[in-house]
Amino acid sequence: MTTLHAGCLLRPMTEADLPDVVAIEDATQPTPWSAQVFRDCFGSHYDCRVVERDNAIIGFVVLSSVLDEAHLLNIAVAPAMQRRGIAWAVLKEIIPEYQARALRYLYLEVRESNVGAQALYAHLGFQNVGQRKHYYRTRDGRENAVLMMLDLSTVLERLISRERF
Ligand SMILES: CC(C)(COP(=O)(O)OP(=O)(O)OC[C@H]1O[C@@H](n2cnc3c(N)ncnc32)[C@H](O)[C@@H]1OP(=O)(O)O)[C@@H](O)C(=O)NCCC(=O)NCCS
Repeated sequence: MTTLHAGCLLRPMTEADLPDVVAIEDATQPTPWSAQVFRDCFGSHYDCRVVERDNAIIGFVVLSSVLDEAHLLNIAVAPAMQRRGIAWAVLKEIIPEYQARALRYLYLEVRESNVGAQALYAHLGFQNVGQRKHYYRTRDGRENAVLMMLDLSTVLERLISRERF
């Protein structure tokens, strides 16, 4: 368990957290993961954590890793708690951990329309490295994914310099 800021804790996700996690997922994603998809990520190559504040789950993150590559599979913050630096604080905590584990690359896919998340990742140093055509379902069709990559071997001064809440 890690203390982020302002009473927020980052800790491993458990089965008991799933109703709250799915509620945030349903409130934030156009094609949300089910509880079973989260449950399937409780295996050894995955890293599932929640952000807790005042005994309430206010966000979560799911990553996987194989060899020297990690993948950010899902991250969300409850709508009422967005734009307070929570996702930033979570990734600021996890990135140095992954650097210390000798992981080299952190990849993610993000919807082309999700400019807010892309801004977050760009500020953290992720680069745009490709596109996956028709990768995501939408309510009435398909949408491209932007593929982004963070080279974990680079020094991320900006992670250290920025504290907010
Ligand atoms: C993307 C998401 C996780 C960001 O969480 P957050 O805690 O609100 O993000 P932060 O407050 O840490 O944002 C840090 C910086 O990222 C950028 N950013 C984050 N959300 C943004 C938005 N909606 N629009 C523009 N920039 C945004 C800003 O630069 C922000 O700094 P600022 O507030 O000082 O301008 C959150 O909006 C969310 O849950 N979205 C729905 C789920 C989702 O899209 N997940 C990503 C899937 S790839």
